[in-house]
Amino acid sequence: MNPPNSRLPLRCWAEIDLAALERNLRLIRASLPAHIRYVAVVKADAYGHGLHQTAARLMHSGADLFAVATLSEAAAVRELGPGWPVLLLSPLLPEEDRYLADYDLAATVSTFDEVSRFAAVGRAAGRPVSVHLKIDTGMGRLGVWHEQTGEIYRAITEHPQLRLAGVFTHFASPDDDVAFTDEQRRRFLAALDSCAGIRLNELFVHADNSSGLETMPGASPFNAVRVGLLQFGILPHPHSLLAQVRTEPVFSFRTRVGIVKDLPAGTTISYGRTHTLARASRVAVLCAGYGDGIPRAASNRGQVLIAGVRCPILGRVTMDQTIVDVTGIPDVKCGDEAVLVGRQEAGEISITEFSKWADTIPWETLCSVTKRVPRIYRTALGV
Ligand SMILES: Cc1ncc(COP(=O)(O)O)c(C=O)c1O
Repeated sequence: MNPPNSRLPLRCWAEIDLAALERNLRLIRASLPAHIRYVAVVKADAYGHGLHQTAARLMHSGADLFAVATLSEAAAVRELGPGWPVLLLSPLLPEEDRYLADYDLAATVSTFDEVSRFAAVGRAAGRPVSVHLKIDTGMGRLGVWHEQTGEIYRAITEHPQLRLAGVFTHFASPDDDVAFTDEQRRRFLAALDSCAGIRLNELFVHADNSSGLETMPGASPFNAVRVGLLQFGILPHPHSLLAQVRTEPVFSFRTRVGIVKDLPAGTTISYGRTHTLARASRVAVLCAGYGDGIPRAASNRGQVLIAGVRCPILGRVTMDQTIVDVTGIPDVKCGDEAVLVGRQEAGEISITEFSKWADTIPWETLCSVTKRVPRIYRTALGV
């Protein structure tokens, strides 16, 4: 492990550009209508970028609310900003309930059981607990089934120990199924119509994530978006409605060359001997493997940048090393930087391309960079 404050040289690291993160948030905000509030989704250690540093930067860049998955993530945000609204997106275990009051958090409500449990927390604390009512419009995961919204809304309003702070839903296929997303929006609006006396303009009303922005004609009750991936400069989908916002990648993933050697044609490379050199080759053995977050599925498929040139991965990625072909690249030597995701000279490997080599998605790639990879924070002032 190379702890964040270690003075040891870096072997494999992720660089996080906090100035780019701030520029991204400001660009996204500027592209949204003025009344739309910005819910910063920072779960899973802020998509692997580091929750503390990311949330602190987003706080002073203008996020309106933080959405997290777990209590420990919520506590980390609460430490940074007392009074800042924090929404827990995941369900709570019964023994976690009391922390809603202790940490001053908003809970997601999907069930009648949660209504009574959270009301009990408010009663015990002597002050109301904030909740966002989640409506399942077709995701089949969290949320009350949309046809039961009126009933659960009534149950919430009957408890003075609960304060309804928001209503929301989550889209199942916002990237590629416009018709179903429209149907989910329609169900959501019909569900809200069944809530007698609801005052939507006093609530956070949210559905969209990085994939889109609601474009319904006429007056719309939506007044917030939950942005995760896009604030990190990654487009979920080239045709998404926010695709015109020119965000920049915040994350890059780098390692270094361990050794360079020449091998004869016919040599087989790495475990399982899945690659045979077709010609005499020069290979570089990199100081990172799946123990750092290079997916084994990228074996024989992925590429890295060395001196700005793409070098194919040869054979299987191993736990601590990955072998690449550097034949014809002059002067590659021990210690040279190799870029797994990011820019180097004229070359660039995007996280989307890197993820495709492993048949996965950028969200999973970011969550798969392991603990032994230090996150190095870059800022505009270089501190
Ligand atoms: C409920 C919910 N809202 C919003 C988001 C943010 O999505 P994205 O990263 O695509 O912006 C997520 C991400 O997983 C989520 O689970």
